[in-house]
Amino acid sequence: QPLPVESRPFAPYGSVLSIGLPRGPSAGQRLTLEIDYEAGEGPGVCWLAPEQTAGKQKPYMYTQGQAVLNRSFFPCFDTPSVKFTYSATVTVPEGFTAVMSATSWEKQKDNTFVFKMSQPIPSYLIALAVGDIVSADVGPRSRVWAEPCLIEAAKKEYDGVIEEFLTVGEKLFGPYVWGRYDILFMPPSFPFGGMENPCLTFVTPCLLAGDRSLVDVIIHEISHSWFGNLVTNATWGEFWLNEGFTMYAQRRISTEVYGSAYTCLEAATGRALLRQHMDNTGEDHPLNKLRVVIEPAFSVSLGVNPDDTYNETPYEKGYCFVSYLAHLVGDQNKFDAFLQAYVNRFKFQSITADDTLGFFLEYFPELKEKGVESIPGFEFDRWLNTPGWPPYLPDLSPGEQLMKPADELAELWAADTLNMEAIEAVDITAWRTYQLVYFLDQVLQRSPLPEGNVERLSKMYPKISKAQNAELRLRWCQIVLKNNLEAEYSKVKDFLHSQGKQKYTLPLYRAMWGGSEAARALAMETFSATAPQLHVNVQNYVKKILGLEGAE
Ligand code: BES
Ligand code: ZN
Repeated sequence: QPLPVESRPFAPYGSVLSIGLPRGPSAGQRLTLEIDYEAGEGPGVCWLAPEQTAGKQKPYMYTQGQAVLNRSFFPCFDTPSVKFTYSATVTVPEGFTAVMSATSWEKQKDNTFVFKMSQPIPSYLIALAVGDIVSADVGPRSRVWAEPCLIEAAKKEYDGVIEEFLTVGEKLFGPYVWGRYDILFMPPSFPFGGMENPCLTFVTPCLLAGDRSLVDVIIHEISHSWFGNLVTNATWGEFWLNEGFTMYAQRRISTEVYGSAYTCLEAATGRALLRQHMDNTGEDHPLNKLRVVIEPAFSVSLGVNPDDTYNETPYEKGYCFVSYLAHLVGDQNKFDAFLQAYVNRFKFQSITADDTLGFFLEYFPELKEKGVESIPGFEFDRWLNTPGWPPYLPDLSPGEQLMKPADELAELWAADTLNMEAIEAVDITAWRTYQLVYFLDQVLQRSPLPEGNVERLSKMYPKISKAQNAELRLRWCQIVLKNNLEAEYSKVKDFLHSQGKQKYTLPLYRAMWGGSEAARALAMETFSATAPQLHVNVQNYVKKILGLEGAE
């Protein structure tokens, strides 16, 4: 029977759909509610024109749910505290393929695809993409999906490497419950490095570096299979439960596969990002706490939009807190066993940090007895509720052998008179991407360099200044801007035209806006040319940086 429907305001990022039931349901009663709706202009569903794809031939559509965008895709209890299974029947035009974050998938006639997710998940993990996409196997339970023009590169990048990450993950954290682990390479404007949609991670095409150097993103998204997708933060105010534990799990898998030297180097670049973030926002910024207060509000000054909590604090300060818990335990094997017990205890549930820390103290009664939650300066409460730099930093010295040469080289390049003999004695041709990234972060920190140094550095290392690798391009563009090297502004422009990842886009606009007149002009020119290609959230964040109207 038809029911009365009403829409009421709730927050700038969504409204309440209120449906009147004929009589209150009784406990245990099952209701079937059919809602006929059309997805509109909301931010959760992205419609791309052919020019915005890699192949430039056919249109594309995809959804991005996290944090609170799926409410514009379908009516739902759009909170991570509610989990449910789903199924979907999707009909697309001839010549298109639909994929979803689902445990089973079947193509029927008339371009209709039927999907089923048989494990309970929160609303933000439902995802759909439709386009001219094809697939190729890269492992016993994994394939890559991409537009036809990218599929070969995609297969080459990850053929034969995914299974090892899954196996190591299972050994450390328990069974992988999602069946398949597939990867979809998105169009260039996809705003994230990766999004852990269950069974089917969505990733930026920037990962196609040709040398597997950016595989840490894949390990990160795989780690969400346990932390985030199985054990989920109950509110976005405790987003660090998803991301901090995932960073820790990512680095555990990386240590097993690549060793501690490489993993500590990668973690050091993460720490540099946290430093930059806290310098930008001020350590005392309320978002620099692990537990953030989120309240729906109609003006920006009150309450926080859950999407605004996407910054380095939940990731890297969260990582430090989990590392601190491991440090309290003092034995990696025991802590690994705890993580596995934690996943097993809370799988398919949504929990708060109090649940996590309560379970930790219950699992290690001797630590509880010692009162580890209230050691002065390191109180659990302080970790959660005080903004600022983490009180404990894990030891990254196993990475020294890789970091030290990069530190020393950066120091040489920062000198007033360059010691070219010493510089030329350092051979960077064999350095791994993250060693170069670390070196560039050190150069950036010392920038602006004395007059003329960056030009010479650029000429000396075309491997860096002409790099195609996105992580290197980001750092090089940051150095160009910080040193006001106008001769290479075109590289900033080209990079921002080539992709739309939020973590690449915003730092560059911030640097341009904080720079010279010419840099500001570059920002305006680049934004007016690329805005229509950017995800609407990213567009709004850039507008805010540039002081343009329309910014929330
Ligand atoms: N779940 C996040 C992406 C995300 C966060 C989307 C918040 C929307 C709102 C994903 O797992 C992630 O953290 N991706 C990182 C990967 C990196 C930390 C290795 C990214 O996109 O950069
Ligand atoms: Zn993540």
